[in-house]
Amino acid sequence: MTHFEYRNGEMHAEGVALSRIAEVAETPVYVYSAGALAEAYTRFSSALSTADLNARVCYAMKANSNIAVIRTLADLGAGADVVSGGELERALAAGVSGPDIVFSGVGKTPGEMRQAIAAEIGQFNVESIPELEMLSHVATSMGATVDIAIRVNPDVDANTHHKISTGRQEDKFGIDIARAGDIYARAAELPSIAPVSIAVHIGSQLTDVAPFRAAFARVAELTRELRAAGHNIGKLDLGGGLGIDYGRQTPPPVEDYVAVVAETVGDLECELMFEPGRYLAGPAGILMTQVIYAKEAEARRFAIVDAAMNDLIRPALYDAVHRIETVREPATDGALQDWDVVGPVCETGDTFAKGCQLPALSEGALLVMRDAGAYGAVMSSVYNSRALVAEVLVHDDSFAVVRARQEPATFMGYETLADWQN
Ligand code: LLP
Repeated sequence: MTHFEYRNGEMHAEGVALSRIAEVAETPVYVYSAGALAEAYTRFSSALSTADLNARVCYAMKANSNIAVIRTLADLGAGADVVSGGELERALAAGVSGPDIVFSGVGKTPGEMRQAIAAEIGQFNVESIPELEMLSHVATSMGATVDIAIRVNPDVDANTHHKISTGRQEDKFGIDIARAGDIYARAAELPSIAPVSIAVHIGSQLTDVAPFRAAFARVAELTRELRAAGHNIGKLDLGGGLGIDYGRQTPPPVEDYVAVVAETVGDLECELMFEPGRYLAGPAGILMTQVIYAKEAEARRFAIVDAAMNDLIRPALYDAVHRIETVREPATDGALQDWDVVGPVCETGDTFAKGCQLPALSEGALLVMRDAGAYGAVMSSVYNSRALVAEVLVHDDSFAVVRARQEPATFMGYETLADWQN
């Protein structure tokens, strides 16, 4: 079932007409479907249980950290993968319990470590020796012992956009897998540290299982080596990264991904952890925008819309393409035209799509950009002193504004003139 589809000539999110949401929440606005979140979560977790894997899913909140979205997933049983003290606060506020939280990231500060230890989180994924030593120091000062994984870098190219590839030797993430034996030996000596797990994450938006297979096979080999050296490795955190179809990709079905997991690490009797972000949240959201002006220039036709690169930066940053459709259903026999869909920000990079096939557009027409539920609102900014975009969650026939639009005056309220300027 698709949760964003035309009904009675108009695109709906579940049972709610998008024009109703535009009236109440104005545009631009992100709209999420609770049903789509639940469906993706269930598909992911059922594939794991069907394969008889002892697994848990810790949603990578960086994809979409709205507390209503986290709560939707937590209600289904998801834990959380956090990368900052702020995300930790959000996970707790959304009702995720401490032990269901894993803390990833290359630069955890001592303050964030204290905050996470106080929340009794389940696991730290440690990415360097200085971080390991700092964590030992902080945990000892709090009289706690913490479960850790070392995030290993398996030197596998994920074949994805270079800005979101993380598992090659030149990337800043993790510890070279060849050095892992020494690092675990060091971890085992340190006070207040229990090295119980291995973590790996090689990149995001993977559309092929081969890099996963290569990385997980190396992790399996390392597990055997570490066990032989006397370490009690009972858990593996296999990260996230499974891609979605933005319109031109053919990502593997989750069952194929799970088959690779079973094939590579299935016989190790480890508790497995997964950190999907995009797979769960991406297809569950759209960005709705309105045409401000339809500008017919010499060479091209521009739809200038009220969303901009500050609201959805993926096209500008990664050359990402999000399918664009009209909220009003196009006539089946209607002619389509080439449109460049652009925002109002003063940069040529503020372009969502070129030569997009759409029906004739005029001012006021509503458009949606699909698959914007992950890395959309979380990466939004107030560049050009634009408002911070609002977010709406839909469930069946109901919808709620789950983040209010924040107007420029709110931000300006945090600014002051320097005392010598008064
Ligand atoms: N775990 C770790 C340690 C990660 O670094 C990430 C994503 C994930 C899990 C979740 O990966 P996913 O399942 O969502 O692929 N802003 C970029 C994506 C950055 C991904 C960063 N790390 C984009 O818009 O494509």
